[in-house]
Amino acid sequence: MTISRRSLLAGAAGCFAGLGTWRLPAAEGIEEFSFEIVSDTHLGRNDNISAERQWGGAITELNEAKGKFVLHLGDVVDGGREPQYPIYAAARKRLKKPIYEIPGNHDPHELFEKHVRTPIDSAFDHGGVRFLLLGNAHRDSHDGFITPEQIAWLDKQCGEAAAKDLRIIVCCHVPVHANAHPDRGWFVQPADGQTAFYELAKRHAGHLLACLHGHFHNGIRGWRDHGNLLEILCPSVCYNQDRKLQEHIKSGSAKGFFVEELRAGYLLATLGKGRLTLRYKPLGAELHGEYSAEWS
Ligand SMILES: [Fe+2]
Repeated sequence: MTISRRSLLAGAAGCFAGLGTWRLPAAEGIEEFSFEIVSDTHLGRNDNISAERQWGGAITELNEAKGKFVLHLGDVVDGGREPQYPIYAAARKRLKKPIYEIPGNHDPHELFEKHVRTPIDSAFDHGGVRFLLLGNAHRDSHDGFITPEQIAWLDKQCGEAAAKDLRIIVCCHVPVHANAHPDRGWFVQPADGQTAFYELAKRHAGHLLACLHGHFHNGIRGWRDHGNLLEILCPSVCYNQDRKLQEHIKSGSAKGFFVEELRAGYLLATLGKGRLTLRYKPLGAELHGEYSAEWS
């Protein structure tokens, strides 16, 4: 398969093994900067220490990576296991850069706020971009939500960001974008905030660059069919599953893009000069010979 065919399959993206890169005209004036994205650490999964060891290995690697901060897109622990939060926090202390977490459907909000970060819905600015962190998952469903109050908060944040000529990236665990088999079929239903969110996205189209999500455990997967808005699901640092998405996209039974890599890992992100690039970093493995790290 040639590069151009992959690019064709991916629409506006160029996708190579382990790498996705997208043009973002609205980020033309942004100076390039790097950050890392982890998701779905699931500490305590299967009641063993595998996930904890992987998170520890990821921290060792993240300390060597050049990004200025880390985004964690939710499911910090598995199944709401409260004793895992101090374990997460102890490992997090080894990280030598800021990390911004959001809760996933495995994280009860009260435990997340007690052990990780509060308030959940919050914002920070970096390099001309406002990152909006949103809690949109609950324990009793794989579907997500964005409440009217959250829409109002997002609207206000986007307006303030635009007034400062900042670009915007929204981070929430559950994707807004509708999806069905061969995808998971988990998203924010129209009446639960999806319709309102896409209306908001239209209002702020000149500034809103992307939505970043976890939740699917399918590597890098996403869509770009609401204007220029990029909607990207990010891989789990614990485990990812093969849903044969490349085949389904090729046959037309699934839309959007998928980057062929499914090992447990995280993303090295570079944003700026009109482009977002996500490089998939499998834990403990070398990638493209450009980056390698060892952990135990
Ligand atoms: Fe998860």
